[in-house]
Amino acid sequence: MEWSGAGPNDDRAALLPDDTADPNARQMAGFKSFFQYASPTRVIAGRDLLGSTGFEFQKEGAHRVILVTDQVIRGTGLVDKVEAGLTDGGLELAGVFDDVPQDSSTEVVDRCAEAAKEAGADSFLAVGGGSVMDTAKVADAIFSHGGTAREQEGFFLMPREDDGMGRPLDIAPLACIPTTAGTGSEVSMAAVIKDPEEKVKLEVADFPLFPRLAILDPESTRTLPPRVAAATGMDAMTHAIESYVCLEWNPHQDGRALQALRLIRDNLERAVETPEDDDARGNMLVAASIAIAIELGSVHAMSHPAGAQFGVPHGVANAIHLPHVIRFNAVGGADIANRYRDIADVFDLDGAEALADHVSVVVEHLGLPTRLSQVGVPEEGIPALVEGAMGDGTTLLNPREPSEEDYAELYRKAL
Ligand SMILES: [Fe+2]
Repeated sequence: MEWSGAGPNDDRAALLPDDTADPNARQMAGFKSFFQYASPTRVIAGRDLLGSTGFEFQKEGAHRVILVTDQVIRGTGLVDKVEAGLTDGGLELAGVFDDVPQDSSTEVVDRCAEAAKEAGADSFLAVGGGSVMDTAKVADAIFSHGGTAREQEGFFLMPREDDGMGRPLDIAPLACIPTTAGTGSEVSMAAVIKDPEEKVKLEVADFPLFPRLAILDPESTRTLPPRVAAATGMDAMTHAIESYVCLEWNPHQDGRALQALRLIRDNLERAVETPEDDDARGNMLVAASIAIAIELGSVHAMSHPAGAQFGVPHGVANAIHLPHVIRFNAVGGADIANRYRDIADVFDLDGAEALADHVSVVVEHLGLPTRLSQVGVPEEGIPALVEGAMGDGTTLLNPREPSEEDYAELYRKAL
C-alpha cells in the first residue's frame, strides 16, 4: 500500500525531494529524507476488560452502538459478554449485524452500513477478526459520508473540509475487539474488502479509519481454533518482517516490528499448542497490534491475489510466500541483507537464509500448509496471480523491485 506515494488528494510528493517522491528510491539505511508515522488508536489491554466495553467506548462519544460480528463468534457467547459490558457502561445496543462472512465483500459492507442507519446507531463496535473489523470500518465511512463500498476504494480519498490538503472529516466512533491475533486492523487506518465481481481485493486507507479504541483481552481469543491462531499469527509475523524490510521502513515502526517479533517468537507456538494459555494469547494480541503497518511488500502483494482468486486464507498465503520472498529480497543489496540480519538476531539466527529456513520450520510446526498446491492453487493459475501481484500497491514498497518473471518464479517455488 502506498503511504508516501501521491494520490489525487495527496500532492506531498510534489513538495519532497526527488529521491523520496520516487517510489523506487531504495534507501534502506541511514537518515531518511522523509517518513511519517501515525498511531492514534487508544489501546487498552489486559484481563477481564470486556465488561468495561461500554465505560471505555462512551469516552469516545458512543451512545447507540451497532455491534458488527459474524455468526461463529456470536455462537461462542463472546458477543453476549460484550453486549452486557456495553449496557453496564450506560450505552444502548442499537442492533447487531452478524452477517459478515470469512472474507467480507462490498455487498456485505453496503448492507452493514444500511443496517446501522436503520437501527439509528451513532457508533460502531466490531467484535471479530480482520474481515469483521474491515467491514465495520468501511461501513462506518459509508454510514458517515454516503456512497457505496466500491466508491471508498483508494488512499487518502475520504471527504475533506475543503479540496486538496484539508483535514479529513471524521467518521462515527469505531471501537474494535479483535478475536484473532494477526491482522492488526484494530489499530490501522486500512481495510481490505473483496469485490467478488472483479475478483480483486479493494484497499481503502485514510486517517479517519483509525479506530478510536481497541480492546485487547485474551478472553476474546479463548475459542479461536488452533489452525486460525496459527494462520493469523503468521500474518502478524509477516507484518513485522515486511514493515521492517520495506521502502517505507522508519525508526518508529522498526522498534515496534522488532518487539512484535520477540513476542511472536516467545508466544505464537505456545498460543497454538496450548490454547488455554491466557498469557500466550494475550501477548499474541499485543504482538499483532504492534506488528501492523501500512507499509508492506511482496509477500502481501503475492497473497492478496491468492486470496481473491483462489480463496487462500490470508495468513496461510503469507506463511507460504514469506520464506521465498525473504530469499529473493536478501540478495538485493547489503542494506537489505542487514535489515534481515537484525530480524534474524531476534531469533538468534545468522542472516537471511537461516531466517527463511526458520520461518519454514515454524510454519510446519504450526501445522499450516507450506505449498500453494496444498491449498487449491493450480500451476495454470500462476499468470493471473502474477498480474495481481504486479498490480498490488504493496509491490511498490518491496525493497527489491520484482519483475513479472520474478513473481512467476516465486509462485512456482511456492507451488
Ligand atoms: Fe496481512
